[in-house]
Amino acid sequence: MIPFVNLPAQYKAHQCEINSAIEKVHHSGCYVGGPEVEAFERELEQYVDIAHAVTCASGTDAIFLALEALGLEEGDEVLVPDFSFIAPAECVRSLGGIPIFCDIHPGSFLIDETLIENRITSKTKGIVAVDLFGQCADFETLSKISQKYGLWIIEDAAQSFGATQNSKKACSFGDIAITSFYPTKPLGCCGDGGALFTSSKTLATRVRSLANHGSTERYRHDYIGRNSRLDAIQAAILKVKLKYFDDELAIRVANAKRYDSFFCEFSDIRTPQINAGNSSTYAQYTLRSPKRNDWEAQLQEAGIPFCIHYPQALRKQPCFLSLNSEGNPVTDLACDEVFSLPVCAYSEVDLAMLIGRRV
Ligand SMILES: Cc1ncc(COP(=O)(O)O)c(C=O)c1O
Repeated sequence: MIPFVNLPAQYKAHQCEINSAIEKVHHSGCYVGGPEVEAFERELEQYVDIAHAVTCASGTDAIFLALEALGLEEGDEVLVPDFSFIAPAECVRSLGGIPIFCDIHPGSFLIDETLIENRITSKTKGIVAVDLFGQCADFETLSKISQKYGLWIIEDAAQSFGATQNSKKACSFGDIAITSFYPTKPLGCCGDGGALFTSSKTLATRVRSLANHGSTERYRHDYIGRNSRLDAIQAAILKVKLKYFDDELAIRVANAKRYDSFFCEFSDIRTPQINAGNSSTYAQYTLRSPKRNDWEAQLQEAGIPFCIHYPQALRKQPCFLSLNSEGNPVTDLACDEVFSLPVCAYSEVDLAMLIGRRV
């Protein structure tokens, strides 16, 4: 069985450089913060073309920090997609806010900005727009809505670091953007890691302080914060991986195009729709079919791994049931139909194995 994401092969490709970067950190004795982390933050700013990048311990922590920096209070409502990884809704709820689950577009799986105005109330404070599966949400329309209602926007770019929208990089949209360096993300480290991005110096300073016990000066604490820092070893590894990142993205896109041309001849399959003006990282290559079970059986037989991203609408998760959220039919159907195939730069998928096995 080929691996869904082949991390050992990626390590092997850059083994010497990664090992010597780690060794350099050991010799420096500087494991938390310090020159490797600072240098990586400057590289992130350059890559995204934004004024401030602040690293932290995970993508989830980055969302917490963003919500705290934007002043989320108990009872505040935040619009989030119903079809997504749980982190944005979880962070809102765990800070006492109320996630308002919004439906998605059936082709791109992104939050449907044409429906969200119906869910805005006097308690709504912001939107967490998730760049699902690697392409940016429609930030032009979302920012018009946010201006009309005085809302903030967090861009959850955990899956889209490296993508573009109208030539602007993911992580440069909204008031604050976040990303994740979880190992299987397009740019992943060897543990947990994350970052926040903003063009506001005030927000960047607040986030940096919140991530360091609410402190900007040693033993002075302006806010109740937390400890959320990227380790120097992770920063050193990420600096090596960032050098090869665009090449790896190009391979991911080529793999996705090969899938597109293979699957386009099957009438029961819908290949992922990338919106005009967007490029995708293909964090996941996610198809949909009303005959998903048949496809699963064929993939299993061919030794091709697949995942279901995501099997259940977030509003139906036991932890959110008490919110009695409104229904989202497009999300519910997507949960029944989607399946994702391996697309990473080091997974060799033999599509020929599928040829002739029509459902
Ligand atoms: C859309 C989205 N947001 C946030 C996260 C959380 O990132 P992390 O696992 O680094 O906490 C993930 C991780 O899968 C994600 O997919």
